[in-house]
Amino acid sequence: MRLVLTGVPNPRQKEFFLSRARHTAYGGARGGGKSWAMRRKLVLLALNYHDLNILLLRRTLPELRENHLLPLQRELYGVAAYNSTERVFRFPTGSRIKLGYCDAASDIYQYQGQEYAVIGMEEATHFTEEQQQFLTTCNRVSGGELSPRMYYTCNPGNVGHAWVKRLFIDRVYNENEDPCDYAFIPARIWDNTALLNADPGYVRQLMALPEDMRRAHLEGDWDVHAGQYFREFSRERHVCAPFELPRGWKRFRSMDWGYNDPCCVLWHAVDGEGRVYTYRELYIRQTRADEVAKRVLELSQGEDAAYTVASPDMWSSRGATLSAKGGFDGETLAELFCKAGMSVIPADNTRVAGWQRVRQFMAIRPDGEPMWRCFSDCTNLIRTLPLMQYDSHNREDAADGEDHAPEALRYGLMSRPTPSCTAPPVRKPLYDPFSKPTPQKSGYLST
Ligand SMILES: Nc1ncnc2c1ncn2[C@@H]1O[C@H](COP(=O)(O)OP(=O)(O)O)[C@@H](O)[C@H]1O
Ligand SMILES: [Mg+2]
Repeated sequence: MRLVLTGVPNPRQKEFFLSRARHTAYGGARGGGKSWAMRRKLVLLALNYHDLNILLLRRTLPELRENHLLPLQRELYGVAAYNSTERVFRFPTGSRIKLGYCDAASDIYQYQGQEYAVIGMEEATHFTEEQQQFLTTCNRVSGGELSPRMYYTCNPGNVGHAWVKRLFIDRVYNENEDPCDYAFIPARIWDNTALLNADPGYVRQLMALPEDMRRAHLEGDWDVHAGQYFREFSRERHVCAPFELPRGWKRFRSMDWGYNDPCCVLWHAVDGEGRVYTYRELYIRQTRADEVAKRVLELSQGEDAAYTVASPDMWSSRGATLSAKGGFDGETLAELFCKAGMSVIPADNTRVAGWQRVRQFMAIRPDGEPMWRCFSDCTNLIRTLPLMQYDSHNREDAADGEDHAPEALRYGLMSRPTPSCTAPPVRKPLYDPFSKPTPQKSGYLST
């Protein structure tokens, strides 16, 4: 039986096929042709290499069946034998594609001790970071022609949104991760001419979605996702290129203290209309209070900061280590900062009202502009603000997470007056030649 593979890859799918990175993600808009590309890539590998062990995963079994098993059975009929007990396709080259799923968290351990040269994770954002890290340990080869690879397809949203966004969109890596190992190919519905021709109404359906879902599913915008706390945040509206701040603008700072967790300091400036611009950030870990103060003062050289608001717990927690008597002694963190030349005042830490204040500053005014923006080099604030999730126990509040930069922003904006919700006053022209003359109220006509 001769294998006939139908369809021609679009340019993005070609890029996906040609990527040689250890981790390649193809993601973004729905209907872009990601699942098609994943299936085709794995089949081509199985046909072109001998004795490859390939694993294709989806989170649940029904999804796996609909999305991959049935199309693969159709495509590979008479070419690769399918064993339904093992869920494995065996190719004449000796290569195998195993179809798997990880419904419960513990399902992942069935792959323990297995060796897969290639792993495909479909809808990778449905997997947790722990599951992805565990699978990476199964991605290895002993000998053979191909270096181990992992391929991912993904849409914004779901439990794995944060790790996929970190590795492939924000490209923030820890010391064990090599940036060269990660490649991202954006999926766009417009690239999938096969679907656009077959179902022209599909794009209309995506366009009719509510704005945030449309941004995620049609435009592949990674800043919006389900359960997101600040849906109003948009890079387009709230992030601006750095510019020289006029000397007359008032400046102030805000800080969320942390030692093992990051410490975040933000610098803000206020224009004549009360709009706040966050123009600098410092985001550091494991740095002593006096060293943080030194860095802040160095970065602020030549600038006048009216004040710095900081986490109120800095007035209770001690900077020194446990004393011989078993209790804490030494100065408070606030005192340590003051001693190092950076005076701080306690921030208003009312959480829900504080987040509400952040929303009010983000809201678009009648003149089409928000009351808060930040410079594009405040990368950690821009990265973590859209990642914040609702707290499942208190729907008004945000859940715990990497929220040090948003907390510093909240402290900063709580030190400012609430922005007014009303439109700027409409100025009446002094003289309007088109207005009708108002009847005189004086009594002389009636007499
Ligand atoms: N290159 C191609 N040739 C033919 N059909 C394609 C091609 N790419 C995608 N398709 C078809 O387009 C539809 C949507 O593709 P799919 O891979 O399911 O999108 P996604 O996974 O990005 O949502 C499917 O019916 C798929 O078979
Ligand atoms: Mg898909």
